[in-house]
Amino acid sequence: MKIGTALTPGATRVMLLGSGELAKEVTISLQRYGVEVIAVDRYQNAPAQHVAHRAHVIDMTDGTALRRLIEQEKPHLVVPEIEAIATNTLAQIEREGIAEVIPTARAVQLTMNREGIRRLAAEDLGLPTSRYAFADTLASLQQAIDQAIGYPCFIKPVMSSSGKGQSRVEREDEVTKAWSYAKSGARVDQGKVIVEACIDFDFEITLLTVRALNPDGNTETYFCEPVGHVQKQGDYVESWQPQPMSVLALRRAQDYARKVSENLGGRGIFGVELFIKGDQVWFSEVSPRPHDTGLVTLMSQAQSEFELHARAMLQLPVSTALRGPAASAVIYGGLHGEGIAFAGVDAALRVPGTEIRLFGKPVAYPRRRMGVALASGVDTDQARARARQAANAIHLLKD
Ligand SMILES: Nc1ncnc2c1ncn2[C@@H]1O[C@H](COP(=O)(O)OP(=O)(O)OP(=O)(O)O)[C@@H](O)[C@H]1O
Ligand SMILES: [Mg+2]
Repeated sequence: MKIGTALTPGATRVMLLGSGELAKEVTISLQRYGVEVIAVDRYQNAPAQHVAHRAHVIDMTDGTALRRLIEQEKPHLVVPEIEAIATNTLAQIEREGIAEVIPTARAVQLTMNREGIRRLAAEDLGLPTSRYAFADTLASLQQAIDQAIGYPCFIKPVMSSSGKGQSRVEREDEVTKAWSYAKSGARVDQGKVIVEACIDFDFEITLLTVRALNPDGNTETYFCEPVGHVQKQGDYVESWQPQPMSVLALRRAQDYARKVSENLGGRGIFGVELFIKGDQVWFSEVSPRPHDTGLVTLMSQAQSEFELHARAMLQLPVSTALRGPAASAVIYGGLHGEGIAFAGVDAALRVPGTEIRLFGKPVAYPRRRMGVALASGVDTDQARARARQAANAIHLLKD
């Protein structure tokens, strides 16, 4: 394992596909090892582009444009941060040995479509999941609900993320609206939805799982302490670590996370989303990349999920040890505006044990994640209260 000098012909080059706040933190970790980082997004001045060596703006769903850029920049590693990418092109790039895709092109392909990952987890690996069915017409959706799924249920486009196009449906007269909403929120109009029975969980977690080289040079699976979180309208608003759970539930969670991440393969971090009720555990979905709820690890772990991802891809050793209880609370835009200003950062940082990250997104809108408050505490209750207080102290202003 060797790392070259950035901006020289021998550089170790990493290309990030997607340059949001998660990619920004991965970039910072990579920069600390002297890696040359190229940040790509569909718009200019995306968060990671502020800290990378070079930035490009392309439509990443355009396979020809993506391939051209990879051939031009010649990265050693290609690291997807988002799902909306021409994944067939990534598979070709990997097959032709042009670059290594982190964790693997197959992982990226399977997880961009809810059907791919759900069938793998439930049907191939036998993991417990909610009851589910796929439908491509309103009539077949209604039939699946009546015959197999029941109410309440969740209806989601197979190609979407961050809760887009997703509804929780209680009764028959809400199905038509949920169907139309799913079609409007789909990333690619595949016209296909998944309908899932509602799991009545006690809490949900992200089990951050990292596949990295061990001292023998073999890829090993390591687990972070569980991250608890609260979701609103399909987006996370608060997360904390560690989330206490029964010994049996934790063992099951790790077993499911191990099976799914080993199957997806490669090296890097995975955010495995699980629902927990007592000792029962259901697999929900997995991101083969840092997870938004894992922003808390910037505070709670000596090696954040971003540092773990960077180390894993560079074949460096990792430690998932907890530093101490911590929490994160999202700072939302709250308004529409370009080049906005943040007020109250001083007040936020007066809350004991806090840190603030502002992402630098050029445009704000009310539900856009513009920053995050992080806090430590004697326990997660104190950390959560502090993180919320700090996030609430910050307000966006128009110039
Ligand atoms: N079958 C289910 N039973 C109970 N709750 C569910 C179910 N499906 C989804 N949810 C709730 O909705 C949230 C978002 O669902 P899901 O993770 O599938 O969507 P997403 O669009 O991929 O969101 P994200 O990209 O933010 O992870 C879950 O974290 C959970 O709180
Ligand atoms: Mg999710």
